[in-house]
Amino acid sequence: MVYGSASVVCPPERIVKISDAKNHLEGVIVLHSTRLGPAAGGCRLWNYPTEAAMLDDALRLAEGMSYKNALAGLPFGGGKAVLRMPRGEFDRGALFRAFGKVVEELGGEYVTAEDVGTTVPDMVDVAQSTRYVAGLPAVVGRPGGDPSPWTARGVFGAMDVACRQHLSRPMSEVRVGVQGLGSVGMDLCRHLNQAGATLVVADMDQSRVEAAIRSFGAHAVSTEAILSADVDILAPCALGAVIDHRVISRVRARLVCGAANNQLATAADGTRLAERGIIYAPDFLVNAGGIISVAGEYLGWTEPAVRRRVDAIASSTVDLLQRAKSIGAPPERVAESIARSLMANPTPTCELEQVV
Ligand code: NAI
Repeated sequence: MVYGSASVVCPPERIVKISDAKNHLEGVIVLHSTRLGPAAGGCRLWNYPTEAAMLDDALRLAEGMSYKNALAGLPFGGGKAVLRMPRGEFDRGALFRAFGKVVEELGGEYVTAEDVGTTVPDMVDVAQSTRYVAGLPAVVGRPGGDPSPWTARGVFGAMDVACRQHLSRPMSEVRVGVQGLGSVGMDLCRHLNQAGATLVVADMDQSRVEAAIRSFGAHAVSTEAILSADVDILAPCALGAVIDHRVISRVRARLVCGAANNQLATAADGTRLAERGIIYAPDFLVNAGGIISVAGEYLGWTEPAVRRRVDAIASSTVDLLQRAKSIGAPPERVAESIARSLMANPTPTCELEQVV
């Protein structure tokens, strides 16, 4: 197997190709690591130009999930399913039921949930064929459903402490650029607005930009201008690989902290950010709120147990940024190395203590 991405640091344990023409299902499930438990990570449905691009995305995302789950202290390894958006008309329910059968055949080695391009109703269809799925409609008092509000909560908490500690200012005195006003980006704007931050936003969907202007008094800039906007903090909340060498030379923010997975185009871009004195709060640390909610739903935790863990992302971020500063290394490298050592030396997890 040739791994498509030069940016994948550790090869995955297993790659499962999916091809079911009858149900318009084409994709791949990557089980990056099962050292800490079943490989958990969402299912993405996207318009990939080529099979190689799809595999590349799946590999990077699955590896990121391994690190994310390890750092969040979850009893899960990392995995990801990536499906190619069919051309023309297709039966969405049939596609996700067929995908569920593939997940079921893996016998619990992989646990799925929603991701970009998939929804709670899609996971309801998946659940018709497998029990290894979360992100299903919430039961009152229990986590479940769309994990995005938890992701936004975790990102906001991390940004808030990083802003106070490293920019020495409260959120009410900073300008934050939010790229992408989807489920997470819009909810992050709500938190930021409540905290008194000035918002600068961009989205390809003009109706979302208008909603942010109406609801939060946000200032709109073009999708080309957002990454170099005159802001103190940049929050990438659209797709990955947006921070590359060209962008880095134009970034004016002093802190990058957002929800998008794999924000750095290459590992060298983390070093470039650090060299410019821009603090990067690693995506796989700060955006773990969603997978914590998914894990809590799957393992039967209560909502307060999920909230406690999501709110702990803020203190983990402070610790990490402090450690990175003291040893003079880019934060994402330090975070990856902590995650890899957790994966190499699994300790008994605390999931039982959280079950109520
Ligand atoms: P979403 O699909 O709801 O929203 C993405 C938004 O970004 C859309 O409004 C889209 O129009 C916009 N967008 C796409 N390309 C853009 C561009 N070049 N410039 C400006 N806007 C652009 O996705 P969601 O759920 O909000 O997730 C956002 C990011 O956070 C994704 O990278 C996702 O993988 C990541 N993430 C999401 C989690 C969740 O709980 N939903 C959990 C962890 C990570």
